[in-house]
Amino acid sequence: METTIYKNIDCLVTNSGLIGTKGTRPNEDSLGIISKGAVVFSKKKGVLWAGRSSAIPRSLRIGKTVDCKGLVAYPGFVDSHTHPAFDGDRAKEFSMRMEGATYQEIAHAGGGILSTVNKTQKASAPKLADLITKRLESAHRYGVRLMEAKSGYGLEKHAELRSLNAIQAASKKFRNVKIRATCLAAHAIPVEYKENRDTWMNEICEEILPTVARRSLADYVDVFCDEGYYTIDESRKIFTTAKKLGFHLKMHGDELANTGSAELAAEMGALSVDHLLKVSDSGVSALASSSTVATLLPGTALFLREPPAPARKLIDSGACVALASDFNPGSCTTQNLPFIATLAALHLGMTCPEIIAGITYNGARALGMAGTYGALAEGYMGEPVFAEGDHPAAIYYRLAQGALPNPL
Ligand code: NIG
Ligand code: FE
Repeated sequence: METTIYKNIDCLVTNSGLIGTKGTRPNEDSLGIISKGAVVFSKKKGVLWAGRSSAIPRSLRIGKTVDCKGLVAYPGFVDSHTHPAFDGDRAKEFSMRMEGATYQEIAHAGGGILSTVNKTQKASAPKLADLITKRLESAHRYGVRLMEAKSGYGLEKHAELRSLNAIQAASKKFRNVKIRATCLAAHAIPVEYKENRDTWMNEICEEILPTVARRSLADYVDVFCDEGYYTIDESRKIFTTAKKLGFHLKMHGDELANTGSAELAAEMGALSVDHLLKVSDSGVSALASSSTVATLLPGTALFLREPPAPARKLIDSGACVALASDFNPGSCTTQNLPFIATLAALHLGMTCPEIIAGITYNGARALGMAGTYGALAEGYMGEPVFAEGDHPAAIYYRLAQGALPNPL
């Protein structure tokens, strides 16, 4: 068995204080910091032990030992919201936006999500799998060990299935990042169904989701519930079907306008509702009194030049807040999760324990995986991530730098 003993870690972040809690109101105790810490890690079995370097059990002192003096070690990062299954780019649209066009204007003119759909529908399965594999490798370099991956640029049964198959193929090719897949057939309304939304709704509920469930191609179902996309009633219908088929629910909500998506996500027991730039006070309290995670995507707000989500309001009212990249070709083009953490500090007013919880344990909660990812404790998976220094903010204090390569 391949075991590594990381010892003399100046600042070992275990997240022990978050385990078993609902990830709400993280404080310094939540991070379970151990100075001069050690982690015994097996690639196959995950964390075998974590504690003080002086207390490593004798029976575990076999394996390669790495001296981690001068380093902070974190639980592997969790990127709980990404869209890696796409071909092409939207550099031209970015440039149009910088000259004054809005995201919605571009979408109405046939650009936006639909322009990526055009490209992605034409991409072969192997090409998509290659693109996704490269994106997994890049996420790994930024410290991501568990990543959610959405379809949603297929927007037609076979292209959606091709995207989900490509996600599975990529995850078999590159195993250092654990992948959980999401069917986001309800990403936009396909042009050919613009005047006939009900037919497309039936295609999603009676064709696409049942096939995805039968072939075990996804763990979650997501809906873009927003102005100009899916209505509250349509989202409810898709969620009801998805639940019956055994999927967990995730939602893009209250991003472009307040439509009451946070309330619906909480009511239906979704694992998370993501974006929330325009969430209302009633949405905030619905989330605070539910176990639905509020996932904030500050890279998207920056890239769209929108005011940030009300992170302080959400955290202070008791909601569980996660942070993710939203990596996609239109509204956020970075996979650098440590940079997302920097944005959370600069733009969302989040504290260091809140940010670290957001990219680890709370991200795992947003995926229903908090029992196995997001902490450095016995039985947890995901190789630790390292940064230079002795303070937990080290990983995001260095602007846009990302994580260190494993000191192994
Ligand atoms: O999360 N909001 C919906 N979907 C993506 C944007 C996708 C795109 O513009 O291509 C998002 O921001
Ligand atoms: Fe998204």
